[in-house]
Amino acid sequence: MLNIVILAAGLGKRMQSNLPKVLHPLAGKPMLAHVLDNARALDPKRIIVVVGHGADRVKQAFSDQADIEFALQSPQHGTGHAVQQAVPALLEGDGADDVTLVLYGDVPLVQSATLQGLLQARAGGMAVLTEKLADPTGYGRIVRNEHNQVVRIVEHKDATEQEHAINEVNTGILAAPTAKLKDWLTRIDNNNAQGEYYLTDVVGLSVHDGVPVHAAHPGHGWETLGVNSRVQQAQLERSWQQEQARRLLEQGVTLADPARFDLRGSLTCGRDVFIDVGCVFEGKVELADGVRVGPHCVLKDAVIASGTHIEAFSHIQDAQVGDDARIGPYARLRPGAQIGAQAHVGNFVEIKKSVLGQGSKANHLAYIGDAQIGARVNVGAGTITCNYDGVNKWLTVIEDDAFIGSDTQLVAPVRVGQGATLGAGTTLTRDAPAGKLTISRPQQKTIEGWTRPVKKS
Ligand code: UD1
Ligand code: CA
Repeated sequence: MLNIVILAAGLGKRMQSNLPKVLHPLAGKPMLAHVLDNARALDPKRIIVVVGHGADRVKQAFSDQADIEFALQSPQHGTGHAVQQAVPALLEGDGADDVTLVLYGDVPLVQSATLQGLLQARAGGMAVLTEKLADPTGYGRIVRNEHNQVVRIVEHKDATEQEHAINEVNTGILAAPTAKLKDWLTRIDNNNAQGEYYLTDVVGLSVHDGVPVHAAHPGHGWETLGVNSRVQQAQLERSWQQEQARRLLEQGVTLADPARFDLRGSLTCGRDVFIDVGCVFEGKVELADGVRVGPHCVLKDAVIASGTHIEAFSHIQDAQVGDDARIGPYARLRPGAQIGAQAHVGNFVEIKKSVLGQGSKANHLAYIGDAQIGARVNVGAGTITCNYDGVNKWLTVIEDDAFIGSDTQLVAPVRVGQGATLGAGTTLTRDAPAGKLTISRPQQKTIEGWTRPVKKS
């Protein structure tokens, strides 16, 4: 029976923030949410988050997630003391498979494959996740005996000069048999340089009790990097973005520059997708075969069908685009925009909660909101759907093959019939019949004998 304890009570003073540290985002998601996702992949029986500083805000942020239990640690007397607070919530079964895994809310990227490896390495005993660092300063050191077995962990501040030379460090993550861990936690003390109850002391107690301690290692160096400052947060963000970029490249996506790529959510790509520099992908984005995304586009919760090109500086959110369409440059598709196959949406065109049918075009400077536009419709430059009367939103319907002249206002609710033409500058307040020219424009006149006023001397 697997319990996972996530330590998240620390202050995070160096972040210099009012937001509790574990709520700071990495790739658009709170650090603690990354840890929870990786924890859940191990299918634990229970997840306990130890909260302290900013406890209410942390609880609030995850209040909709029923599989989490919270334990309060206040005040904070060290990592061992933190795990003690979770002890009453630990579940136990028949003994043999009972294990508790300790993770950290500010070490967001440890991958479930690494954690699986740690649980396997345990072999019924205890396992710690360790790694060798060129500069181990500040970390707890892994002390091994002459048989190369782990015997204890010594914190940097408590270590001798000889121990400071050890470059194998404790990442903090460990797995231990639950009943034993409970017992060891009652036996640790705070007689050390920091006056804290160290979780790391359970390693020595384990060896003392004849329970072997194994070491496992992370798959990548960045997995165990913690965030204590904005600098470390920024560095880890870049490491993770590079990793995400690498995964996409391996799947056959072309990235103009993997160092200028940001994914804050999930991105699914078909074959031969091209993504130019400076794009941001948020939420759940799908790009089908052959999609090209130009530089500096933002796509959030969007589905783009095959062969479509999104040109530079376009912004797409909660929208769908069909096959072989052309969007942008400088286009904005807002929630509920559904762009048909082969349609064109050009510069400074904003579309909200509207359908633009197959092969239809709105190429320049338009606002289309709450509209149903059929196929092969031409929406002229400067066209506006007046969808809002100040209180309610109303629908504009434009049937297939209609031609909307430039600078037209469609005062909704209003309908333009199939194949109808609206003259430029029309303010349409009543339905326009199919197949006919409708125009609302005062007669043009020329004033004979008119002269320009002249400046008084
Ligand atoms: C800890 C380890 C050290 C390891 C290092 C890796 C101990 C005694 N030392 O040291 O061996 O090399 O991590 O980064 O465990 N926390 C609480 N409550 C507390 C204290 C800490 O929840 O009372 C949480 C913090 O929020 C943080 C984590 O535990 O997420 C680690 O605490 P921190 O003070 O950073 O431990 P280190 O001294 O760095
Ligand atoms: Ca730390």
